[in-house]
Amino acid sequence: EKGGYEHYMLKEIHEQPTALRQAISGRIDEMKGQVDLELDLPAEYLNSLEEVQFIACGTSYHAGLYAAKLFEEYADVRASAEIASEYEFTGGRDPWRTLVVAVTQSGETADTLSALKRAKRAGARTLAVTNTLGSTVTREVDDTVFIRAGPEIGVAATKTFCSQVATLALVAVHVSRKRGTISSAEAQELLSDLRGLPGAVQQVLDAEGQVRLAAEEHGDGDAFFFIGRRLGAPVALEGALKLKEISYDHAEGFPAGELKHGPLALVTSETPVLAVLTEGAKARETLNNVKEVESRGAPVIGCASDVVDAEKFVDKVFTVPELGELEPLVANVYFQLFSYYVANQKGRSIDKPRNLAKSVTVE
Ligand code: F6R
Repeated sequence: EKGGYEHYMLKEIHEQPTALRQAISGRIDEMKGQVDLELDLPAEYLNSLEEVQFIACGTSYHAGLYAAKLFEEYADVRASAEIASEYEFTGGRDPWRTLVVAVTQSGETADTLSALKRAKRAGARTLAVTNTLGSTVTREVDDTVFIRAGPEIGVAATKTFCSQVATLALVAVHVSRKRGTISSAEAQELLSDLRGLPGAVQQVLDAEGQVRLAAEEHGDGDAFFFIGRRLGAPVALEGALKLKEISYDHAEGFPAGELKHGPLALVTSETPVLAVLTEGAKARETLNNVKEVESRGAPVIGCASDVVDAEKFVDKVFTVPELGELEPLVANVYFQLFSYYVANQKGRSIDKPRNLAKSVTVE
C-alpha cells in the first residue's frame, strides 16, 4: 500500500505532482486569465471586502501565511494569517467586510473549528479550504473549496501543504479578478506558474539523491535553522516544523532578517542553515544573512533559482526552477526531502512521530 516506498511520507512527497494536477484540474481558464471554483462569492461582496483572515494550525497556518501575502499583493486587501488557538474576532474590523478562511487538511481540528465559531458569531462570512469531503468544517462555513490532494496517511503534512497553497493561490486569482485588482495578463502569469508547478516539483523530486547526500553530510547538526523572507518566511517555518516533527532534532525557522535580532547567538559550525533564495523571497537581502552565518562557520544549504548567483555564496545549492511567486513553494519540497532523510537515517518513526496525532480534535 506504500507503493514501494519505505514510508507513507515519502510516498506522499512523491505524489505532489499528481495532487497538484488534481487541485488545478478544470479550474483554470488560462486564456481568459480566470478561475472557476464554483464559489458563491458575489462580485458586490468581494468589492466591499476590507480584510481576509486565514485561521489555521501548524502546517496549515504556514499555508495561510503564504496565502495572506498573495492576497495582499494581488487582491489589494488587508490579509493576515492567525493561529487558530490564539484567534479572537476583535478590534476595528467590520464583520460584513471580513472574509474568514479556515485552512484545515482534516476539517476536524478543534482549535480551527472553535476559532471559526468565534468568527461566525461575530458575523463574518466564512470559507473553508480543506482536503476532506463531509468533514465538520464544511458544515460550518458558507463556502468550501477542496484541495483534492487525496488521503494523507503520514502524520506530517506534505502534499496537503503544497495543495493548500496552490488552491489558495487559485482563490487569490479568483478574488482579485472579481475585484478588478489584477489584469488578465497578471492573472495569466500566475495561472501559468500554477500550471508549471507539478513539473517544477517533479524536477525537485528527480534531484532527490542530492538531498539525501546533504542529509547524510549535515544530519548530525546540533540544531537546524531555516531562513527566508516574504514568501520564503512561511516556507522556513514549515521546513523547521517538518524537521523537528519527524527527526526530533532542534530546528527553528524564522524570517531571515530576524537572525541578527537574537538567534544568531546560537549559530556555530554545528548548526546547518537552510535558506530560501528564490524569486518571491527577496533572495538578495537574504544573502546578507547567509554571509552572517557563514562567518560563524555554519554550513549553508540554499534552495535557489536564477535570481541570485547562489553558488558563490553557499556551500550547497539545490536548484529551484523558474516559477515566479511559486518558487518558495517548490523550495519547500527540498526541505521535505531533507527532513525525511535526516529522520530516516536516525531510524525515527517517520509516519507516526511520538506524541503526535494526524487529526487534533481537542483544544
Ligand atoms: C504538521 C501537521 C500539523 C497540522 C495541524 C493542522 O505536519 O500535520 O501541524 O498541519 O495539526 O491540521 P489540519 O490541517 O488538519 O487542521
